[in-house]
Amino acid sequence: MKILVVGGGGREHAIVMKLAESPKVTQLHCAPGNGGISKYAQCHSVKATDIDGIVALAKDLAVDMVFVAPDDPLVMGMVDALQAAGLRTFGPKKNAAILEGSKVFSKELMQKYHIPTADYHVFGDPKEAESYLKTANNYPTVIKADGLALGKGVVIAQNEEEAFAAISSIMKDRIFGDSGSRIVIEEFLTGPEVSVLCFTDGKTVKPMVSSMDHKRAYDGDEGPNTGGMGTVAPNPYYTPEIAQTCMDTIFLPTIRAMQTEGRPFQGCLYFGLMLTQKGPKVIEYNCRFGDPETQVVLPLLDTDLVDIIQAIESETLDQLDIQWKDGCAACVVMASGGYPKKYATGLPISGLDENGQVPGCLVYHAGTKLDGNHIYTAGGRVLGITAIGDTLADAVASAYQGVKQITFENAHYRNDIGQRALKALS
Ligand code: AMP
Ligand code: GLY
Repeated sequence: MKILVVGGGGREHAIVMKLAESPKVTQLHCAPGNGGISKYAQCHSVKATDIDGIVALAKDLAVDMVFVAPDDPLVMGMVDALQAAGLRTFGPKKNAAILEGSKVFSKELMQKYHIPTADYHVFGDPKEAESYLKTANNYPTVIKADGLALGKGVVIAQNEEEAFAAISSIMKDRIFGDSGSRIVIEEFLTGPEVSVLCFTDGKTVKPMVSSMDHKRAYDGDEGPNTGGMGTVAPNPYYTPEIAQTCMDTIFLPTIRAMQTEGRPFQGCLYFGLMLTQKGPKVIEYNCRFGDPETQVVLPLLDTDLVDIIQAIESETLDQLDIQWKDGCAACVVMASGGYPKKYATGLPISGLDENGQVPGCLVYHAGTKLDGNHIYTAGGRVLGITAIGDTLADAVASAYQGVKQITFENAHYRNDIGQRALKALS
């Protein structure tokens, strides 16, 4: 099979490296890819959001399958366009990707089908939102832009001033464009967070190994939110009992609801969950693999990813027994100094071998560029260093061993990835 992967971050590198293990794969392409991905797939400089460009590239290359990994092209309908051009795909169609593309849609779906989530109200008028907040007067409260906002559309307001400021920047200043024409104001939930990525063909849902993200920039969960500074899998808070509850009250009801609504979801559905005192609740749906969750989940997958992709396509996922490795994985993200705010790019990275790797780890490139024979920084998150171990402590230690071998000027990473999970285990 010739496969084209759309995207160019650490998640896509993990997907490409997993596909490269498959005896069924003969050629790998990636658009746009990055410096590290170019060691495993032929990279093409077409943007991940360029629907016409990706359709043309897939036809030119005569690929057998296009794997659309990022949220924006999925929400924009890239899968529909590829299928209309006669191409085979992995990823949900536009009418299903709306589960991530519109928070209003996802909240209304959960309400209609009694799927546990935070209580909420929807507003299209900032004045009405403000007067609701005046009456409710209950903080912290959570304010979310309806549409995609580069992962920055959620504000946890501690008081009225912060809440009004969020409404103003999202709805009046439109800092996220049309994504802010409506907002969701919802109840603030507390509890451990768990990410569960699931394979689904629209009828059957098969959860992957659970994981835990570390979203804040600095140690001790301090500092601004980021795209994710590290992950571990499995997530120790996610016990078999909780997994069963999630299957019965969240995963299957969501898949069935989408089927009933005439929006069958095929691909990877990501459940962002909070384990509250009143049971697991949905914080968010993502219509795709998570980043950097994929970097700890896919290394633990034993079954050929191509077999899973084909089972989803033929809607026979129920007949496939998906196998996972025992053991744990940890991923430490090395970011550019200053990220998630201003940072420099174009800095040389040292310590990587000719494949962009270090011994004992899987180095997933997120923001790198190959220039001649050398790899340079090219983004906020630069590398994700993943290691597998028999225990979580082993995996974390090995990932940090890998980190220590790599240097670039002003590199920033958290020193406490996995510590919260290790505490939960002790
Ligand atoms: P998102 O951008 O949707 O991933 O949300 C970012 C983060 O905001 C989540 O990972 C949670 O930590 C937090 N969050 C979102 N919704 C809620 C909520 N209703 N209660 C508490 N925290 C929330
Ligand atoms: N790590 C969270 C996400 O992929 O949205």
